Amino acid sequence: MAPLPISSIRVGKIDDVQELIKSKPNKVPERFIREEYERGVVLSSLKTHHLHHQIPVIDLSKLSKPYTDDFFFEILKLSQACEDWGFFQVINHGIEVEVVEDIEKVATEFFDMPLEEKKKYPMEPGTVQGYGQAFIFSEDQKLDWCNMFALGVHPPQIRNPKLWPSKPARFSENLDDYSKEIRKLCKRLLKYIAISLGLKEERFEEMFGEAVQAVRMNYYPPCSSPDLVLGLSPHSDGSALTVLQQSKNSCVGLQILKENTWVPVLPLPNALVINIGDTIEVLTNGKYKSVEHRAVTNREKERLTIVTFYAPNYEVEIEPMSELVDDETNPCKYRSYNHGEYSYHYVSNKLQGKKSLDFAKILN
Ligand code: OGA
Ligand code: NI
Repeated sequence: MAPLPISSIRVGKIDDVQELIKSKPNKVPERFIREEYERGVVLSSLKTHHLHHQIPVIDLSKLSKPYTDDFFFEILKLSQACEDWGFFQVINHGIEVEVVEDIEKVATEFFDMPLEEKKKYPMEPGTVQGYGQAFIFSEDQKLDWCNMFALGVHPPQIRNPKLWPSKPARFSENLDDYSKEIRKLCKRLLKYIAISLGLKEERFEEMFGEAVQAVRMNYYPPCSSPDLVLGLSPHSDGSALTVLQQSKNSCVGLQILKENTWVPVLPLPNALVINIGDTIEVLTNGKYKSVEHRAVTNREKERLTIVTFYAPNYEVEIEPMSELVDDETNPCKYRSYNHGEYSYHYVSNKLQGKKSLDFAKILN
């Protein structure tokens, strides 16, 4: 995607959060302090506790034996997860522990490098690949308490080889190995999602063409005043599916908006967090929703996430699938559009809840 013209964007001074806490561990600059209404509260009451236990966990080993009772039970759980939560965790996903550990290792090493080294791969204003803060478009826009490193992975044309780091030594190799596995997982999940909707297994694969895959590593340093800042502003993902890996022993950081409450997602060992992106919401005419989420920080602990966005090829035209639209009972809620245009719209606006989907909504 062509980036925005750089000259037209003034983003002001963007402090590197890791450097900030090295020099002034207890200071939170004004530009990171969010308005009261933005910070919201996480209910620490029984209600939240109760909700925790309902964040669905899908056991992929049960889906490896097609058309058994276990299979259909798990598909049913999946459909409820997509409809009611837009989020679920997968266990027994079959990706080798080493692949998961290896990507985490090089990502950690990357963020631990001196700033001068990381700055060799800068995210220029208006672009979304490289090291820095994405989605910043003005000098007064608030900043997230996070350092990001993002790369286009597939198809090869979206790669910017200058941004693939030479250090840590095995970074590119590990990212390639990891991305291949995550790609297989996404294809598999989309098959199950198709089945859960009563569609033929290959429905999404056939429609998506050569799917676009990008990765973003988010590093959230500890913050002396976690209540004043956000790790990542509320947003929905523009993808079809997102796969989020949280570092081992990660503290809670990801929260999803459910019934007007920010519900924390509790990390499970060896699980991956999956969420429905805007594209699946449109394709299913809103049956499966892309749910708003954000990240918060912790006073003592750092947190690292490795996030893969999987989406149709930029050439693909997107509109609600005819099987899921009925003029009488379930009229079409979204217009048809080109996915590349949507991606461009998504990355050229700041993260603001589910606002990006206004692009496609048919307003009555
Ligand atoms: C994202 C995202 C949450 C997290 O990168 O889109 O929602 O916990 N990340 O890092
Ligand atoms: Ni997200």
